[in-house]
Amino acid sequence: MTAGPGPGDALFDNEDMAAPAPETEAPSAGIVDVAAVDPALSDPDTVAEVVAPQREIATGEGQTLLRTDGLSVRFGGLVALDDVTFEIRRGEILGLIGPNGAGKTTCFNAITGVYKPSGGTVTFDGKPLEKTKRNEITRLGIARTFQNIRLFGEMTALENVVVGTDARHRTSVPGAIFRTARHRREERDAVERGLALLEFVGIAPRAVEKAKNLSYGDQRRLEIARALATEPKLLCLDEPAAGFNPSEKSALMDLIRKIRDDGFTVLLIEHDMRLVMGVTDRIVVLEFGRKIADDLPTAIRENPAVIAAYLGVPDDAAS
Ligand SMILES: Nc1ncnc2c1ncn2[C@@H]1O[C@H](COP(=O)(O)OP(=O)(O)O)[C@@H](O)[C@H]1O
Ligand SMILES: [Mg+2]
Repeated sequence: MTAGPGPGDALFDNEDMAAPAPETEAPSAGIVDVAAVDPALSDPDTVAEVVAPQREIATGEGQTLLRTDGLSVRFGGLVALDDVTFEIRRGEILGLIGPNGAGKTTCFNAITGVYKPSGGTVTFDGKPLEKTKRNEITRLGIARTFQNIRLFGEMTALENVVVGTDARHRTSVPGAIFRTARHRREERDAVERGLALLEFVGIAPRAVEKAKNLSYGDQRRLEIARALATEPKLLCLDEPAAGFNPSEKSALMDLIRKIRDDGFTVLLIEHDMRLVMGVTDRIVVLEFGRKIADDLPTAIRENPAVIAAYLGVPDDAAS
């Protein structure tokens, strides 16, 4: 591993990513015609199959995939997550909502091994996640995106996705990118799958554009493609629609539905209550680190505690 890109190389998560790319960016140069690269990818069913090769084997829809039991996280004197118990069932889109500071991201971080819980347990796919390292958790089948976008800005969209593929398959990234003979086969698979993933999320024409030059919305889609590249059983999205206008939000909800329909289970953090109503199967509501409701969207909408939690907190308040 010498000249290959890796963690730390131009990794950024931040405000400059949040700024929309100027309208004047390179016009048609660098636009990838997926159908020309791989004719099979002009068929959406083929794309879906490449994106989720395991989906036919995925059984047990409705069974518990992940369960937290009394999960708590403290930061010094602050209890950010307080004795939270809920489950995520196979094949569902579970919404995790709550006002800013409620503990949503902390909950994600505790599940994905970023924070060590101060109490409680997380069980995933029948296995306790206690003491499981972050990369191991990815391998077990949990992938996530971040509230603040994290991409390799100097790498192309396709390369960013290939890095995600690597987390799962141990394909050599330098091999895939620099085309050594030894890695030709893996390279082909990874690139083909990467392209299918970009097509799936709707940004394949931008495959060879540097991530930093993509529009904000496309960067969010790229993050989702990269998370899906690890072939997760559970995809966790942390406010994927933050900063979107209403039509971008509704397009993103369509994509999330498509992801679920392709066999993935989704945990969706969202601050905007109206947005999750249309896309989730069930919703867990946090307030001040505690779970205050866990119900169907229609019931959540009428729940007095939830309404009270959201009173005085406009939906479009900063995230
Ligand atoms: N790394 C951290 N160190 C200290 N406090 C934190 C940290 N992360 C989150 N918090 C605090 O925990 C609480 C929950 O935060 P967070 O999970 O980010 O909320 P949400 O995602 O629901 O907006 C907030 O009070 C926040 O300030
Ligand atoms: Mg958050």
